Amino acid sequence: MAAKKKPRSAAWFGREGKMGFIYRSWVKNRGVPHDQFDGRPVIGICNTYSELTPCNSHFRTLAEHVKAGVWEAGGFPLEFPVMSLGETLLRPTAMLYRNLASMDVEESIRGNPVDGVVLLMGCDKTTPSLLMGASSVDVPTIGVSGGPMLSGWYKGERIGSGTNTWSLSEELRAGKITEEEFHEAESCMHRSHGHCMVMGTASTMASMVEALGVGLPGNAAYPAVDARRNVIARMAGRRIVEMVKEDLKLSKILTRKAFENAMRVNAAIGGSTNAVIHLIAIARRIGVKLDLEDWDRFGKGVHTLVNLMPNGKYLMEDFCYAGGLPVVIRELGEAGLLNRDALTANGKTIWENNRAARNDGPDVIMPFAKPFKRDTGIAVLRGNLCPDGAIIKPSAATPKLMKHKGRAVVFEDIEDFHARVDDPKLDIDEKCVMVLKNCGPKGYPGMGEVGNMPLPKKLLKKGVTDMVRVSDARMSGTAYGTVVLHAAPEAAAGGPLALVRNGDVIELDVGKRKLHLHVSDKELAARRKTWKKPKLPMQRGYWRLYVEHVNQASEGADLDFLVGKSGSDVPRDNH
Ligand code: FES
Repeated sequence: MAAKKKPRSAAWFGREGKMGFIYRSWVKNRGVPHDQFDGRPVIGICNTYSELTPCNSHFRTLAEHVKAGVWEAGGFPLEFPVMSLGETLLRPTAMLYRNLASMDVEESIRGNPVDGVVLLMGCDKTTPSLLMGASSVDVPTIGVSGGPMLSGWYKGERIGSGTNTWSLSEELRAGKITEEEFHEAESCMHRSHGHCMVMGTASTMASMVEALGVGLPGNAAYPAVDARRNVIARMAGRRIVEMVKEDLKLSKILTRKAFENAMRVNAAIGGSTNAVIHLIAIARRIGVKLDLEDWDRFGKGVHTLVNLMPNGKYLMEDFCYAGGLPVVIRELGEAGLLNRDALTANGKTIWENNRAARNDGPDVIMPFAKPFKRDTGIAVLRGNLCPDGAIIKPSAATPKLMKHKGRAVVFEDIEDFHARVDDPKLDIDEKCVMVLKNCGPKGYPGMGEVGNMPLPKKLLKKGVTDMVRVSDARMSGTAYGTVVLHAAPEAAAGGPLALVRNGDVIELDVGKRKLHLHVSDKELAARRKTWKKPKLPMQRGYWRLYVEHVNQASEGADLDFLVGKSGSDVPRDNH
């Protein structure tokens, strides 16, 4: 019979002599009895709690529920903090620090006596950063999302995070509401713990955790303050102990099949465009080949089933009561659009977990045969303006603008945009294409969520609600509009976007997956000769490391030296 594999934590806690003394004794300082070091699975609880990340401010409680589960299953939990990334306070953008946080996660897991890990994730970037870091170590892993906030309500209507921030601020700019009403709405929008409660990036990524099989069924939709959220945390604590015993590593769950499922689920939920970058980055860490074209391929023929903001009218709380993501997964499975045998963290296949899901809210989750919106997977665009691709989210766009030709109105960077967009003399009408440069990974830096540029005030006043916008930036998952994003290579890396001038004609044809700049190659070559690389905003530290090493959006915007994994081998002793 093969000898039972020792847990990696035994290289710390199972030692004799001086090193065993050092590794155990300091841990005992908070009252841990000696029998906790008897070789039982040691479970790291990777916590992104921070008051600077309001969406994760309940994570201390969540961690206690995970611990209870670990103890119940005979494991030994050790909670540790990692860099937490909040979308609302962190500047210039949380995305700049996603890769830094992933390094923190990776090294914290590998360098410590951790046999398995539970990842506590909520606000947008906390999910990909933790999954990327854990993928590069590849120990048994479960993801637990913090859950969405309760619905916002104002004047008898649902108001959703971000989505109604954009619409209310446009109404304020257009003079349709007062400052007082605006402030009142601000207080009514976010009224409980949890992350944004629209199908924005946080809810999308929580759905990806469930669809990838890294989280337990129900992970995406239970509100943060619902007792069932704590139950999920506790069950994750119990289950991770078993996963360590089964040696069920993350790479056995994060397979190509799992990513294919996730891309289809993203289309079916009308998920955030940010998921494209994050999933590519996670896949490249774990060693699965995934590229931009896969998003188009696997999104094809998938319809949006959920009527949730920013594409529809309901919120995550409604989604939960309707049955949540399991219903969507069942619909995809029945439509033949699911790898049913993909393994999940609870040891069952995704189909076993979801095949009996019941739809209790047919107005919130529509059946595949009568979907909310048809054929709405992420569209990947190509053309001389984006040789390495750009994307658009058709479910959030205006159908009549999906085929459009217009005169470019160019903003050189975000400051230029803010300085001129509301200038009454700005030469622009609703048929123009708004172009924003230098907001990509290197340019912003960190790819700001500024691609959904607010429309000029004078056009809002005329009643214009959408225009074609093109940039190398990202867009908040809570936002909407006919917005072409992630143009690669970006302007700051010398991509063709850098060469666009006012008055050029840009053609968008989503049906043909085309984004074309009607300027000759000869003229573009001449313009390139005069192009100057923008100066780095900060010459030292992490910003410099980031700008020098970040990959383009089409490759997941990871740092080039972080792609791949180094495994979970135990490093040499520290004394
Ligand atoms: Fe944290 Fe939206 S701001 S999820």
